[in-house]
Amino acid sequence: MLARAHTFTIEGLQTRHVTVEVDVRSGLPAFTIVGLADAAIREARERVRTAILNSGFEFPGRRITANLAPGDVPKAGPGLDLALGCAVLAASGQLPGERLDTHALFGELALSGELRACDGTLAVALAARERGLKTVVVAPACAAEARLVEGLDVAVAERLSSAVRVLRGGSPDPPGLSPSRPPHAIRRESRQPDLAEVRGQHHAVRALVIAAAGGHHCLLSGPPGTGKTMLAQRLPSILPLLSSQEAIEVTRVRSILGSAPRGLARRRPFRAPHHSITTAGLVGGGQRGWVGEAVLAHNGVLFLDELSEFARSTLDALRQPLEEGRIAIVRARHAAVYPARFMLVAATNPCPCGHAGAGDRCGCTETELARHRRRLSGPLIDRIDLLLALERQAPRTLGERPLTSSKSARERVVEARERQATRLAADGITMNAHMDAALLARHARLDATGEAMLQRAGERGLLSARGQHRLLRVARTIADLNASGRVRPRDLGAALALRPEATLGGSRAA
Ligand SMILES: Nc1ncnc2c1ncn2[C@@H]1O[C@H](COP(=O)(O)OP(=O)(O)OP(=O)(O)O)[C@@H](O)[C@H]1O
Ligand SMILES: [Mg+2]
Repeated sequence: MLARAHTFTIEGLQTRHVTVEVDVRSGLPAFTIVGLADAAIREARERVRTAILNSGFEFPGRRITANLAPGDVPKAGPGLDLALGCAVLAASGQLPGERLDTHALFGELALSGELRACDGTLAVALAARERGLKTVVVAPACAAEARLVEGLDVAVAERLSSAVRVLRGGSPDPPGLSPSRPPHAIRRESRQPDLAEVRGQHHAVRALVIAAAGGHHCLLSGPPGTGKTMLAQRLPSILPLLSSQEAIEVTRVRSILGSAPRGLARRRPFRAPHHSITTAGLVGGGQRGWVGEAVLAHNGVLFLDELSEFARSTLDALRQPLEEGRIAIVRARHAAVYPARFMLVAATNPCPCGHAGAGDRCGCTETELARHRRRLSGPLIDRIDLLLALERQAPRTLGERPLTSSKSARERVVEARERQATRLAADGITMNAHMDAALLARHARLDATGEAMLQRAGERGLLSARGQHRLLRVARTIADLNASGRVRPRDLGAALALRPEATLGGSRAA
């Protein structure tokens, strides 16, 4: 007799549908699994057999062949156990087959027959809905995650026998108690770093708010101990919370990697890989389709601290995600595209000794300075709109009142972003940072005074063509923060005061 069950396997970040076909016929007792199964699945034979016996069912003493289709998709992990077990029961006449057509089965079987949680439940539930399945059967600990998907029934099964009961039309087990919160509850996150903890550095804090408002990539430059790392870590706290679509995307990735504090993510990811990271670590790839930091930073912030210490080739690999917001990963069998749209924040000392610009304290030679500048140039820096220059502060500033709290900064950011989204809706983008020259000409037009200011800056040698676009994008964001429909001379002046060109171009006096 032949039976079929639906389940899913995860390859890299992709979920793939798998039909488990089981055929039981007379012959010498044997249990064979075919169809590109990894070691965990080949071991499933023992788990499934023992779980079936320990659940009070009969394990057919005949020839059992399980085929995992489609044959060209590599199957990995123990999540296919439940589907395999149920298909064996159906193929041996111990379970009616019809509900197997509408149910996705996902989970590992313990020898006792207990159903265990597997990583990637959210991804599987999303894929099950997309596939048109009605219900997903999962272990209690996965229930809350599966319920994040609307339009799909979630049936909890503590054991193989509970899954069989559900497939016979009976009731599922009560939802899991393990995650200590009701379904749909939003995870209460531990106290996050706040901008109110940053003292002084008002210029840089303002610039950080501008970067957040317009989605601009930015570079923090300054001597050691001035708060570069501190500021970067506080960027997520002033970004808008994740929209529900974004939250699902972020949680899905975490779920697959098993790094999910279970529940829906609300805050944007913040990833800060060490400068010794490899290219594969940063952008992913390799035989098994590793997920890189750039993908983990999707919808959030990728922070590259000590930018000049990263390998140049590694940084070059960020070109694609920066341009396209995604990463194509090519492997032996499949090409996969992973989402990777993030805000890039980089930090660096202004020179190898860290004191350039601070009077005569800088002891670097011209050669060292030139080398430092070379390391900072390239495609990455070209995409950075904003410079946050931090300076050493007098000790008394540490006692001063902070410029803003994260909460009020975030309110301004959210308003500015809404203004941009409305203006740019017809252009298919949502943020000023993504405006090209044509869109700038339309949306960031200057009046005569502004044009004159721009021209003067050009004459002083401060602005290349790219620098001009950079400046206009930032000016547009400043105008949005000031609730102005037009880019006024004062918005342009504020953008000029951030002097991105001077320092990015590498002037020693910057
Ligand atoms: N503006 C500031 N307000 C409050 N605390 C600060 C400020 N700047 C620095 N600090 C304190 O100093 C510590 C070091 O700051 P941080 O690590 O951000 O410096 P940095 O600029 O990244 O230095 P480095 O170049 O060495 O990486 C912080 O953890 C914080 O306690
Ligand atoms: Mg630092």
